[in-house]
Amino acid sequence: MAPLLILGASAVLAAVFLPRDEVPAETVAARPAILDAFRWPMPAWMPPPPVPDDITVTPDLVDLGRHLFYDARLSVDGQTACASCHQQELAFSDGRPVGVGAHGTIGHRNSPSLTNVGYMPTLTWANPHFTTLEFQALVPMFGTEPVEMGLAGQEEALFARLAADPYYAEAFPAAFPERPAPDLYTITRALGAFQRTLISLNSPYDRATYYGEADAMSDAARRGQALFFDHRLECYHCHTGALFSDNLQTARTPFPENAFHNTGLYNIGGTGAYPAGGLGLYEFTGVASDMGRFRTPSLRNVAVTAPYMHDGSIATLEEVIRHYAAGGRTIPDGPHAGAGHENPYRDSLITGFEISDAEIADLTAFLESLTDQDFLTDPAFADPWPDGHPANANRVMPLN
Ligand code: HEC
Ligand code: HEC
Repeated sequence: MAPLLILGASAVLAAVFLPRDEVPAETVAARPAILDAFRWPMPAWMPPPPVPDDITVTPDLVDLGRHLFYDARLSVDGQTACASCHQQELAFSDGRPVGVGAHGTIGHRNSPSLTNVGYMPTLTWANPHFTTLEFQALVPMFGTEPVEMGLAGQEEALFARLAADPYYAEAFPAAFPERPAPDLYTITRALGAFQRTLISLNSPYDRATYYGEADAMSDAARRGQALFFDHRLECYHCHTGALFSDNLQTARTPFPENAFHNTGLYNIGGTGAYPAGGLGLYEFTGVASDMGRFRTPSLRNVAVTAPYMHDGSIATLEEVIRHYAAGGRTIPDGPHAGAGHENPYRDSLITGFEISDAEIADLTAFLESLTDQDFLTDPAFADPWPDGHPANANRVMPLN
C-alpha cells in the first residue's frame, strides 16, 4: 500500500498525492473530509503544483473549470473557447504558427502547450509578471491586443449567459458555496484549478526512467537521450529537470526557478533585433540584453505541438535541432534577414555543434519519447459537454 503523503501548508491542504487509482478506499473513508477533496493525477515522486492561498482544489471546482475551458459561450462570437487554441490531442496547443481568435483575428504568438502548466512560475512566452493562472486567464477573455475571446466590456452579459445555463446554475454554487454566482473571481479560479490538473508525467521516457520499463524507449530514443544530456549539445542545461525547462515551481519549492534565453532565432540587420511584436523579455524590462529572451518551454509532449518557438516560425523538430546546431538561425533575405549565430544577445550556451543526420534522427526519437499518450487521451481532460450543446455547437477547434 502506498503511504499517504499529506502536505501541511494550508494552500495545499486538499492535495494528497498518490499514484493515480492507488488510494485505497478504506483509507480515504477514514481521513478527515477536507483531505478527501481532491487527488492530484500524478506519481508520488513529483510534488503537486502550488495553489494560491484562497483556493481549495475540489473535484467540483475542477469540473466547473473544465466546462468553462471548453465553453465557446465565453467568447464574443460564440465560437472561441479556451480549447479553440488549446486542444487536448495537441497537448493543449493548436497546430498553428500563431493563435487565431474570435472573428478570425490573427495573434502574435504561438499557442503554447498547457502540459504541466501549473508548475510554470511565470506564464506566457516572455511576460515575467503573469505569475498565476487566475490572472493570466483574463488575457484571452478580455485582451484586445490581440483579441482572443473578445469579451472586453461584456462582463455582465457573460455572467448572465452562464447563470442561465442549467449546468452552471448548480456547478457554481457547488464549487463556491459562499460566492455562488459566475463572476471574474469564480470563473478564473475554476479555470485555474482545471489547468493545474493538466499533469503529464507518463511518457515512455518516464516509464523507462522511473518505473524500470526498460523497453518503453526505443534504442534510437536512448541514443538521443545520451545526446540530449551531453555537453556537446547542451540541451539539458536549459531544458532541465522534470519538465525539461529551467522554469519550475512546485508546492514544495520555496522559490520559483525562472529563466529566459535568447537562442539566436533572429538578428535583424546584425543589431540583435527580433521582429516587432516579439521582442521577448525586453518588451517588459526595456533592458537591451533582454532582447529575444523567451521562457524556456517544457519539452514534454513537444512532438505533438508543432510548429515551434514563440512565433511558430520553425515547422519541425528536425529544423529546431538544425537551428541549434548552427548556433542560431540564418535568414538570408527579406525583412527579417540576419545571422542568428552572430546575435550579440545570444545565450552563451548557444554555440553550435556538429551533428550527423543519424544523430538528428536519434535526438528526435528522444523528444518523441516525451509524448504521453495517456495525457492526450485522458477523458478527465476532454470536452465534458454533450455534442451539439450550446457550449460547443458553434465552437471552432483546431483539428476540424
Ligand atoms: C486565440 C487563441 C487562444 C485562446 C482562445 C486562448 N488562448 Fe491561451 N494562449 C494563446 C497564446 C497565443 C498564448 C501565448 C501568449 C503569449 O505568450 O503572449 C497563450 C497562453 C496561455 C497560457 C500560458 C501558458 C504557458 O505555458 O505559459 C495559459 C495558461 C493559457 N493560454 C490559458 C488559456 C485559457 C484558460 C483560455 C480561455 C479562457 C485561453 N488560454 C484561451 C492562445 C489562446
Ligand atoms: C540557452 C538555453 C537553451 C538551450 C541550450 C537549448 N534550448 Fe531549446 N529552447 C530554449 C528557449 C528559450 C526556447 C524558446 C525560444 C523562442 O521561442 O524564441 C527553446 C525552444 C525549444 C524547442 C521548441 C519548443 C516549443 O514548444 O516551441 C525545442 C524543440 C527545443 N528548444 C529543443 C532543444 C534542443 C534539442 C536543444 C539542444 C540541442 C536545446 N533546445 C537547447 C532554450 C534553450
